[in-house]
Amino acid sequence: MSTSPSREPLSNDVPVRGGERAPATVTTLAEHQVTDAVALWAAAGLTRPWNDADADCRRALVGPDSTVLAVTDATGLAATAMVGHDGHRGWVYYLAVADRCRGRGLGALLMSACEEWVRERGIPKLQLMVRRDNADVSAFYDRLGYEASDVIVLGRRLDAS
Ligand SMILES: CC(C)(COP(=O)(O)OP(=O)(O)OC[C@H]1O[C@@H](n2cnc3c(N)ncnc32)[C@H](O)[C@@H]1OP(=O)(O)O)[C@@H](O)C(=O)NCCC(=O)NCCS
Repeated sequence: MSTSPSREPLSNDVPVRGGERAPATVTTLAEHQVTDAVALWAAAGLTRPWNDADADCRRALVGPDSTVLAVTDATGLAATAMVGHDGHRGWVYYLAVADRCRGRGLGALLMSACEEWVRERGIPKLQLMVRRDNADVSAFYDRLGYEASDVIVLGRRLDAS
């Protein structure tokens, strides 16, 4: 089975209010969109003062095993997701849809694009972490078939003095 990654963007028609369908294409975030991506993540409540989201974004874009996927519309950046893998599992971070675009299928489209990105690299599992104070979003992931894992995530900061 080939695992060579495809470069084709993922396209889909997403429903818009009123019943029509609007085309949306997932692409790699352009370097000039990094500031907008970080602003979107902040507006979506995903940034924390102790994390450097701008550096995270730039690192993911240049790393061989990571990227940032995006949907852009006429107004600007509509949605993003950072995806990568560690050789064993794929991970998603910073999934965010702009307020003005929520409920139109973009979150599901981006998760599908992340799954495709990871699958193309021969990685069989995709997972993500949900902050306890954002637990309500679990219903969204539940709709997409994601289940809670029976694990405790441990961590320590390596930049503390
Ligand atoms: C969570 C988020 C990405 C969802 O994006 P979205 O584009 O509005 O979601 P979609 O329109 O693709 O929804 C897909 C399905 O999930 C459901 N869904 C979406 N958000 C939901 C929520 N908060 N609770 C329950 N169900 C939800 C939709 O109704 C839809 O169901 P359907 O298939 O039956 O129609 C968006 O609300 C967001 O950016 N939230 C803030 C950032 C965040 O919390 N990110 C996740 C970090 S772990």
